[in-house]
Amino acid sequence: MSEPRYSMPSRLIHWVMALLILLTIPAGMVMVQPGLDRGLQNTLFIFHKNIGVALLALVVLRAAWRLGHPAPPLPATVPGWQARIAGLSHMALYALMVTLPVAGYVRVKAGGFPIETLDALGIPSLVPRSDALAEVAKTIHYGAGLAIVAVLAAHIGAALFHGIVKRDGVFSRIWPPVGGKGR
Ligand code: HEM
Repeated sequence: MSEPRYSMPSRLIHWVMALLILLTIPAGMVMVQPGLDRGLQNTLFIFHKNIGVALLALVVLRAAWRLGHPAPPLPATVPGWQARIAGLSHMALYALMVTLPVAGYVRVKAGGFPIETLDALGIPSLVPRSDALAEVAKTIHYGAGLAIVAVLAAHIGAALFHGIVKRDGVFSRIWPPVGGKGR
C-alpha cells in the first residue's frame, strides 16, 4: 500500500511556486548589484516584480485550498519534535510567502514605480505615493528575503535528507507534482 500523499492540486502548486521562488530570489539579488548592465537590470526587475505579484496570487489560492485539504499524516517513524519543527517551518514559509510580495508591492508602488502587468490591467495603486513608506517596505522586504533564504535552506535540506538518505516516504507525500493518488 502506498503512503498517503498531498492532493494533486497541492503538489502541483507546491512545485510551480518552488520553481518561481527559486528564480525570483536570485533575480532579486542580482538586479540590485551596482554596475550591472542596464538592459539586464531592467529585465530582471520586470521579471522579479511581475512574477512576485503572481506568487502572491498563488499563495492565496494555495492557502485557501490547504484549509480545506489538511496535510496527510507523517510516517510514524518521524519523531514528534521533528514534526513540530516541520510544522513551524511551514508556517514561517507561508508567512514569508505573503510578507515578501506584499512588502515588494508597497516598496514599488509607494516609491512611484510601475508593476507592468497590474498597470496593463488598469489596477490602480493600493498604497499612497510615499518615500518614507517605500523605505520601510524596502527594509521589511530585505529582511524577509534573508529569512526565506534561511528557512528554504533548512526546508530543502530536510527534504533531501528524507528523500535520499532516509527514504521514509516523507518526500513522496509531495512528489510527483502531477499524477499518483492523493487525498
Ligand atoms: C515571493 C516573492 C518575492 C521574493 C522571494 C523576493 C525576494 C527578493 C530578494 C531576495 C531581493 C534582494 C534583496 C536585496 O539584496 O536587496 C529582492 C529585492 C527586491 N524586490 Fe523582491 N521578492 C518577492 C516579491 C517581490 C514583489 C512582488 C515586488 C514588487 C512588485 C518586489 C520588488 C523588489 C524590489 C524593488 C527589490 C529591490 C530592493 C530595493 O532596492 O528596493 N519583490 N526581492
